[in-house]
Amino acid sequence: MTQPFLQSKGTLRQQGFAELAAQGPINRLTLFTGVPVVLVTGYAEARTLLAHPDVVRSLMEGPHRDFLTEEQVRWTDRHMLLVNPPDHTRLRKLVTAAFTRRRIDELEPRIREIATELLDGIAAAGDGADLVELFSYPLPVTVICELVGIPVEHRESFRRWSSVAVNAPMHTPEEYIEASGQIVALIQELIAVKTKEPADDLLSALAAVRDGGDRLSEDELTSMIFLLMSAGHETTVNLITNGVHALLEHPDQLALLRAEPDRLPAAVEEVLRYDGPLQVTVPYFVQAPIEIAGERLEAGEVLVFALLPVNRDGRKVERPDEFDITRPDSAHLAFGHGIHHCLGAPLARLEGRIALELLFDRFPNLRPADTGEEPERPPGFLLNGIRTLPVLL
Ligand code: HEM
Repeated sequence: MTQPFLQSKGTLRQQGFAELAAQGPINRLTLFTGVPVVLVTGYAEARTLLAHPDVVRSLMEGPHRDFLTEEQVRWTDRHMLLVNPPDHTRLRKLVTAAFTRRRIDELEPRIREIATELLDGIAAAGDGADLVELFSYPLPVTVICELVGIPVEHRESFRRWSSVAVNAPMHTPEEYIEASGQIVALIQELIAVKTKEPADDLLSALAAVRDGGDRLSEDELTSMIFLLMSAGHETTVNLITNGVHALLEHPDQLALLRAEPDRLPAAVEEVLRYDGPLQVTVPYFVQAPIEIAGERLEAGEVLVFALLPVNRDGRKVERPDEFDITRPDSAHLAFGHGIHHCLGAPLARLEGRIALELLFDRFPNLRPADTGEEPERPPGFLLNGIRTLPVLL
């Protein structure tokens, strides 16, 4: 069995982003036994390649093909993130309307309500409260569960399994198979319920589309819910945590934000640039030779976009390693680019803004509990977060 992609032990962070980026915008390396990848670390190169017609997905490859059964792959991987047009276009179109800026803005009052309840929980916990556990995690999870239509009693199970599915390096293949199997079983159970008794949620709407013709197959529906749930669980958590951490680490920037709250949207963009939630995109594949930055990419090569160095490319942004919420244009590719550009970006941005605004308003003296240690980053290749963030109120 080859070492699956996500089971690469060291994180990119540990391998030294700066070192890699210094070697040039396109790096060839073998991340784990026998699987060579082209790692793109330059901003301009990433933008060009992510929009290039010969940079595509392949259903033949992926992080977990080696140990999942064919049936499990069908249920978890037939979603828009892993397919090419025309399937990509068809699948994305089915949910686009639910994620437009206008539709997402309508969720604002409810997101504020959820955040406020969670802040009450932090106040009750007192000094030493872990912001990840009590705030950054439950906020996006509750929001995505409500939007999709996952009943409250299943949220904890989703949380547990989704964490295993996304943090594959910390788990054995058996644990991964079990977790994804459990998620799929639960999704299928919920689809059956919503088919019988539709509610005003995304799951019911999609179940109706599946029954309405050949626009959405059973596998695609299960995979779509799997994708929305995991994308909605694991990324925005890091946006909120990394944002709080960056602001606490830079008191001058926090003071500026408190004095000039209109800077909030720019502050969220700067967090996405400076310490974004994902280290990499999922792999893409070169379909026909491409010449770029003096390199020739060959058909069949695996491309991975290293979003953290891409967003700190000194050729694109001045003083890239400085956290500066006053940048007029905090250009970044934290949400990807091209046809797979993040569908949930308006939702993630809104949640990030509400979270930072309400948290710092509620606790004017918020500061890090001095544990004397660097924050622990999650292991693995994909996510860029902080595992716990204890604070003093
Ligand atoms: C795609 C980042 C939140 C749903 C992506 C991609 C990135 C990304 C980089 C493209 C990956 C690639 O090209 O391989 C983020 C970040 C988030 C976030 C940084 C939080 C700050 C969300 C949320 C949702 C979501 C809340 C809601 C369900 C999706 C979907 C795709 C996607 C459905 C696939 C789009 C497609 O293939 O057309 N995201 N995401 N994301 N994201 Fe997000």
